[in-house]
Amino acid sequence: MYRTHNCGQLRLSDAGQEVTLAGWVQRARKMGGMTFVDLRDRYGLTQIVFNDDTDAALNDRANHELGREYVVQISGSVAERTSKNPNLPTGDIEIIARDFKVLNPSEIPPFTIEDDTDGGDELRMRYRYLDLRRPSVRKNLELRHRMTMEVRRYLDSKGFLEIETPMLVGSTPEGARDFVVPSRMNPGQFYALPQSPQTLKQLLMVSGMDRYFQIVKCFRDEDLRADRQPEFTQIDCEMSFVEQEDVITLFEGMAKHLFKELRDVDLTEPFPRMPWSEAMRLYGSDKPDTRFGMEFVELMDVMKGKGFTVFDNAAYIGGINAKGAASYTRKQLDQLTEYVKRPQVGAKGMVYARVEADGNVKSSVDKFYSQDDLQALKKAMNAEPGDLILILSGDDAMKTRKQLCELRLEMGNRLGLRDKNKFSCLWVVDFPMFEWSDEEQRLMAMHHPFTHPKDEDIPLLDTDPAAVRADAYDMVVNGVEVGGGSIRIHDSELQAKMFEILGFTPEKAQEQFGFLMNAFKFGAPPHGGLAYGLDRWVSLFAGLDSIRDCIAFPKNNSGRDVMLDAPAPLDQKQLDELELEVKPQAKD
Ligand code: AMO
Repeated sequence: MYRTHNCGQLRLSDAGQEVTLAGWVQRARKMGGMTFVDLRDRYGLTQIVFNDDTDAALNDRANHELGREYVVQISGSVAERTSKNPNLPTGDIEIIARDFKVLNPSEIPPFTIEDDTDGGDELRMRYRYLDLRRPSVRKNLELRHRMTMEVRRYLDSKGFLEIETPMLVGSTPEGARDFVVPSRMNPGQFYALPQSPQTLKQLLMVSGMDRYFQIVKCFRDEDLRADRQPEFTQIDCEMSFVEQEDVITLFEGMAKHLFKELRDVDLTEPFPRMPWSEAMRLYGSDKPDTRFGMEFVELMDVMKGKGFTVFDNAAYIGGINAKGAASYTRKQLDQLTEYVKRPQVGAKGMVYARVEADGNVKSSVDKFYSQDDLQALKKAMNAEPGDLILILSGDDAMKTRKQLCELRLEMGNRLGLRDKNKFSCLWVVDFPMFEWSDEEQRLMAMHHPFTHPKDEDIPLLDTDPAAVRADAYDMVVNGVEVGGGSIRIHDSELQAKMFEILGFTPEKAQEQFGFLMNAFKFGAPPHGGLAYGLDRWVSLFAGLDSIRDCIAFPKNNSGRDVMLDAPAPLDQKQLDELELEVKPQAKD
């Protein structure tokens, strides 16, 4: 037997017991005639003591034979500590060592394997298996495990069946880029890895499975951000004979269950719902962070026509009221201006106005606006003494709103309004069915082409498709889109029409999606569903800045696994087998 207990288990009530532990040497410290070893495993840390007074030869061996990250087995007796460590669950006791055995030595680790580590990002990713020994990283995986267990428990209790769908599927042109896999048995042909099991789960509804879920890997070849990985995990769900309200109710229930079980947060009120158009108007985003207000106020009427050409020529002028920030120094305001001018935000400049203690307003454009004009601004912004008004304008209303959204979030950060322990949940509903793509020069489905238009908007499909709203909904928590779904089309004719609006010829639609449209001819039930982003939920619950920290082996920002050194070129033999030829790469 390797161990009688784990390293997080022993307490004062075990004092006097003979035990055997096994784990990794986190640290060994020599102090006078004693050696203290911190022994670590997944469950915790236990202090081991070697003492010249008890066994000088053993202490000498410990001094010579134990190194950082050695795997050892240690036997001894549990004793009460003289100096207790209140920060450690095992901090009341220590093990007086009687014997030990090195099970496996270790090279000197490339970084300190403790929460407070000296290892940089790249190094920790290269040795991710060592990084995962750090309690803070390990805890994220434990939380992830608990989350998937709770998800299964909840969905099982609601009658959902967990069904696996294939990872080798066909490529679909809509949405993000696919990762593709060549087929040796079908030379010149390729599978794609699923971006989501969307069409397959719909086919499961046609099969009569009624309620499906899957905790499933999805793959998207898109640019990476803190909340995006090229392979990520969805909690993918679909239900038959449901309307939007049914789906929203069930998955709001699941969110509440998860908040309670994983964070002990009681959310009793129904989550607010906000139409997409409202979210864009008030926050310039379809995933607004509603932990704080600072909603946009449109200022076209207030600020135009006073001779300030930047505003006079603008298609949109919007302001936010940063309450209590009138004391911002010139330097802080310059920093904010620099912030909005960064290419990632893209504004040309920023106008500010301070409401002073006496109620007067002082602005960066005083020469164009009288005090009366500025008082009108103050009124429109609902501003009081001590407030700072920040204004952006531009010739593209949507772009300017997005810039103002970035500024609002930045001010939220600066004013400490985005507390990670506060949660604000929201459903964004009534999404437009289509959005215009400049790149493709055509309408694209905003959610996906299987989404059902709102019944009352169906006539607009022929006359004004851009105005059609969809039965689609996203769940947003603290400004993060944690899930999204829709009611689906289950009628082959409406589905064909949708493809037509999206610019597919009937032949192309048949070639790409014939399997689905044909299935709809054999008694497809009305259905709808949703997919939650598991990685995003776990990061939210764990308070992480990036979803990478809750993924065991994530990719870096260039989509590389630096530990496995993937992707990598293939051997010529493999290429030959696959009948593939690789273009010569430009050397950099
Ligand atoms: P959607 O594309 O909105 O919908 O994805 C659902 C949820 O998955 C998460 N997500 C991601 N998480 C990490 N990295 C990514 N690259 C990434 N992309 C998406 C988000 C998102 O809300 N088939 C539909 C769902 C449906 O209609 O039922 C779909 O995939 O949290």
